[in-house]
Amino acid sequence: MGEIRISQKASSFTESVIRDMTRLAIAHGAINLAQGFPDFACPQELKDAAKAAIDADLNQYAITWGAQNFREAIAAKFERTYGMPVDPATQLCVTCGSTEAMIAAIMAIVDPGDEVVVFEPFYENYGPDAILSGATPRYVTLHEPDWTFDEAELAAAFNERTRGIIINTPNNPTGKVFTRSELESIAKLCQKWDVVAFTDEIYEHMTYDGHRHIPPITLPGMEDRTVTINALSKTYSVTGWRVGWTTASPELTNGIRKVHDFLTVGAAAPLQDAGAVAMGMPDAYYAKLDAEYLERRDLMLGILDGAGFKTYKPYGAYYIMTDISGLGFDDDVEAARHLTTEIGVASVPGSSFYSRPELGRTKLRFSFCKKLDTLRAAGERLIKIG
Ligand SMILES: Cc1ncc(COP(=O)(O)O)c(C=O)c1O
Repeated sequence: MGEIRISQKASSFTESVIRDMTRLAIAHGAINLAQGFPDFACPQELKDAAKAAIDADLNQYAITWGAQNFREAIAAKFERTYGMPVDPATQLCVTCGSTEAMIAAIMAIVDPGDEVVVFEPFYENYGPDAILSGATPRYVTLHEPDWTFDEAELAAAFNERTRGIIINTPNNPTGKVFTRSELESIAKLCQKWDVVAFTDEIYEHMTYDGHRHIPPITLPGMEDRTVTINALSKTYSVTGWRVGWTTASPELTNGIRKVHDFLTVGAAAPLQDAGAVAMGMPDAYYAKLDAEYLERRDLMLGILDGAGFKTYKPYGAYYIMTDISGLGFDDDVEAARHLTTEIGVASVPGSSFYSRPELGRTKLRFSFCKKLDTLRAAGERLIKIG
């Protein structure tokens, strides 16, 4: 009998550090500012719609690439928001959260041996997504304090093996919102090297201080080479529903639908029905969401500054990257563990967002998608660090 082992692919990445910190937070009764899930309720309309869908017996498989009414509602909202028409019959694939959307899209478009450009610091799923599809990630650094990239460094990451680039805007963990000129220079490279952009836009409605989200698919020349990834998770505070989608050309969507079908068959049917209600929320809903997140951001920035962290002000999403060297820590993992077990606030070690851990050694990320009271309670604990 040979030895039973897991695959080389599965061995080549570690378990999620973020979800590990969540478990440590629970074990020590710490306030969890590690994982990005809200501790407040989702809109009542969505709860009512989900319950009504179950009562109306929408409890069997939906069409594998998404219920028609939900796809129509997604397309209508995208056109209403960004002015670009999307064909719900051929350009959308509903998935189990944006997590499945990203991996289904990469697996559908990228071959083993191809390269995928990933900006770092990155949302931790992107590395394993590339590895599981057999691709090699090529990392390009976003440099603090503005989290800008060096155009020459980006250009040098592209070559004839490059098949994809992952763009997350607004960005987790940095809060960067990519500007039009940055997106245009990425678009030029995508066109030069025939590359597909996988764009994670899950924080599209959380932007601050005049920054505005621009979907890369709306740039000239990018409509047929972009897979836009989104989900209900963050905009409607339903991370546990696991409903997301891809928007792409009919050709790319065909491939994504096939991979998606064999990965998961489909997302929860009653929650897709509630998703159609979510897509119909009025503009006032998004304005209120944004204003409330701005208030949380400013509160959390004040708390972290007051406790002695160096903060990098985010202009989008709901995380704050900090530098902890001024607090006497030189190891982010040790610092995150100390904060969780001794101070009672969980964060995420910066190194988990980098391919080269040394780039994150003095950084910690805090999420602020919490009630103001939760953030204030975290503040009372954090002030004891010094
Ligand atoms: C950038 C980014 N993409 C995707 C996800 C996961 O999204 P979903 O819950 O829809 O799978 C997260 C969650 O934190 C995220 O920050």
